[in-house]
Amino acid sequence: MEQIPQFIDGEPRAASRTFETIDPHARAPWATVAHSTREDLDAAVTAARRAFDDGPWPRMSPEARRDVLHAVADAVMAHADELARLDTTDMGKPISASTGKDVPRTAQNLRFFGDYAAMATDERLPMASGHHAYTTHDPAGVTASISPWNFPLMLASWKIAPALAFGNTVVAKPAEQTPASLARFAEIAVEAGLPAGVLNVVQGFGPDDVGEWLTSDPRIDRITFTGESGTGRAIGRAAMANLTPVSFELGGKGANLVFADADLDAAVDWSIKAVFTNAGQVCLAGSRLYVQRPVYEEFLARFVEAAEAMVVGDPMDPATEIGPLASEEHWRKVVSYLDLAREEGAKVLTGGRGEGWVVTPTVLVDADPDGRVCREEIFGPMVVVQPFDDEDEGVAVANDTPYGLNAMLFTEDLRRAHRVAGRLRAGTVWVNCFFVRDLRAPFGGAGDSGIGREGGAYSREFFTEPKAVVIEA
Ligand code: NAI
Ligand code: MG
Repeated sequence: MEQIPQFIDGEPRAASRTFETIDPHARAPWATVAHSTREDLDAAVTAARRAFDDGPWPRMSPEARRDVLHAVADAVMAHADELARLDTTDMGKPISASTGKDVPRTAQNLRFFGDYAAMATDERLPMASGHHAYTTHDPAGVTASISPWNFPLMLASWKIAPALAFGNTVVAKPAEQTPASLARFAEIAVEAGLPAGVLNVVQGFGPDDVGEWLTSDPRIDRITFTGESGTGRAIGRAAMANLTPVSFELGGKGANLVFADADLDAAVDWSIKAVFTNAGQVCLAGSRLYVQRPVYEEFLARFVEAAEAMVVGDPMDPATEIGPLASEEHWRKVVSYLDLAREEGAKVLTGGRGEGWVVTPTVLVDADPDGRVCREEIFGPMVVVQPFDDEDEGVAVANDTPYGLNAMLFTEDLRRAHRVAGRLRAGTVWVNCFFVRDLRAPFGGAGDSGIGREGGAYSREFFTEPKAVVIEA
């Protein structure tokens, strides 16, 4: 078995206790993980605190930090195959996705935020009174980053890169299901020039464990979290006890509206990607698919055909599009929704249980719109398809959810595109596409999908303390 360390004050470290991480394709443990104790967590926060309070990182110019982050990005790409294999082994995502998307996006996050912070400007505010006012954005301090298992390295880097670029230090905890890539990333980053103590990685679980200890530590200045909405509530309570600002990216139940005037080839193609990418283990999944009635039957037939054509198999095979779900526990949860769907009156057009912890692309119709299958985040390769009649009804059904992370719509009518995009309650609306990101744009959700936004200036706002300076002229 391989050994996965913690990473504290510039060095990989073992711990006095361990847990195992599972390869969900082999359905067997593949590595032993250093399970951080309270003393380890204390050492990690102390190292990050010292690196912030006394170290060079927050005092370097943004240009100098940019150069280090670019060097880390280059090092990530030099280790791309190794990092990709760690994520695929740990959570079963297809290797083509780890290699082609997650690792390059990790490097892009580092480069983008390095560049952004180096180019950001402040305001000069001339005052009629003759006073002179200006703003600065000072690094906020020690950031706690808690990330989930669905895009292990990529989502961790989406938090760590802006935190570092804006001059903070970090204690990061990857999900217990996927501890491998982030520990290796920290090592690679220090080899590439990141000073010791600036990025620390602790390993373990959430409640009554290192996740809870980290997020309730009063020495933490910012908490950035991606994961389940219920976990967000727990972390929020811990954070508010210390008045620590939080940025939360939580669950979703994305609506996808296909209008009768859509380019159906493109709509089928994107709608498949929207819900079956990463076996549906995506907060942005377009898991509620609404199709306007005149094209409903035709769209559905083509959608089912495309779902059945997806390649299910060994995640290490470059041809595989759907691998196993990330863990046995998660697989059981997703499978329970298959049974629930039937109880709630839905018809399964295709899909269901596969070999091992696999659920094959599953298409449900006639589901009860008020039932759990239509309302809860399933986080698996499972979509509910329903017809709708007109634009008002489409918008109403799309907005009928406690979540508000994202929505999609397909139409060739430009006026309709703008009109509907304006009426959807969601942090991101994609028109005739999906997953396309500009890292300057706000990313996050309304309602139960989160608190705050990250990306470009939004990340800067969160990871700094904006300051006003007023001088009497
Ligand atoms: P989770 O929200 O429990 O875990 C995410 C991270 O939070 C992990 O690193 C975990 O160790 C940590 N954590 C959990 N409780 C904590 C606490 N009290 N204090 C501090 N840290 C804590 O998600 P989990 O259990 O892995 O997945 C459960 C469901 O959440 C999934 O089935 C899916 O529906 C949803 N989910 C949504 C994600 C998203 O991107 N929106 C990502 C992962 C899961
Ligand atoms: Mg694992």
